[in-house]
Amino acid sequence: MRNVCRELRHAGKSLGFVPTMGALHAGHLSLVQAGRSQNAAVAASVFVNPTQFGPNEDLSKYPRDLDRDRALLEKEKVDLLFAPAAEEMYPPGAVTWVTVEGLSERLEGKSRPGHFRGVATIVSKLFNIVEADRAYFGQKDAQQAVIIRKMARDLDFAVEVVVCPTVRESDGLALSSRNVYLNSEERKQALVLYRALCRVQALSDRGERDAAKLRGAALQIFAEEKQVQLDYFEIVDKESLDPVADVSRGALVVVAARVGKTRLIDNLVL
Ligand code: PAJ
Repeated sequence: MRNVCRELRHAGKSLGFVPTMGALHAGHLSLVQAGRSQNAAVAASVFVNPTQFGPNEDLSKYPRDLDRDRALLEKEKVDLLFAPAAEEMYPPGAVTWVTVEGLSERLEGKSRPGHFRGVATIVSKLFNIVEADRAYFGQKDAQQAVIIRKMARDLDFAVEVVVCPTVRESDGLALSSRNVYLNSEERKQALVLYRALCRVQALSDRGERDAAKLRGAALQIFAEEKQVQLDYFEIVDKESLDPVADVSRGALVVVAARVGKTRLIDNLVL
């Protein structure tokens, strides 16, 4: 993979890179399209990274269909697809990790200890293999995007990290590979995440600046959807992820909730 990527770049072509775990949907493909429009060539990876899953998470049942993913990427004219085996990425004896301290322990990190260590480590490895000019991530995973940006800056990766908007279903549900786990009842209940975010947006548009009041209004909406178990709903600074009391200078509104057995996340930038 490194050799073919280098060949492309030595031929003078700029290279965009889209890392994924497969089960591709229009959200992933929007990253590929951004990569296409900004680079001469695009590489994608499909790798269900075991180190970012906790012991009780869905690693074994995570949706996998490489033939389908490959066909979708070919349709989007991806030049290179990297789909390594787990043993290839993590040969026995690998003991080196990348940890982005502070940012990794809160929000998602609190519910998923070790998750961002796995993400930062695999993304570092992929960055070192592909050596792209630009790498594309989705706003859907807002905390991940903040952590990868920080990691690239702190470790001097020569790649520009580009974050692209969240792609949603027509009713507002953010596209996610995990949406396939939802049955039809849960699919309806899952809309509470988007409803709560929209409520915060509407109140903010009307001039409400008090984060506690905005959060309170969102919690009320969650209280009406009893089947959905809220994990967190927080209003934080876009870079430090510290809670903010006042949203005058913008903020990131992040939510995670369990619908049945499926854990969903979403967010909104005020
Ligand atoms: P995965 O969940 O497959 O997502 C791959 C990329 O697609 C991420 O950057 C994610 O934010 C983006 N994405 C997912 N849903 C999206 C949506 N609805 N709209 C826009 N972008 C969306 O995130 C990962 O994989 C992994 O953690 C990875 C970075 C590949 C490391 O293993």
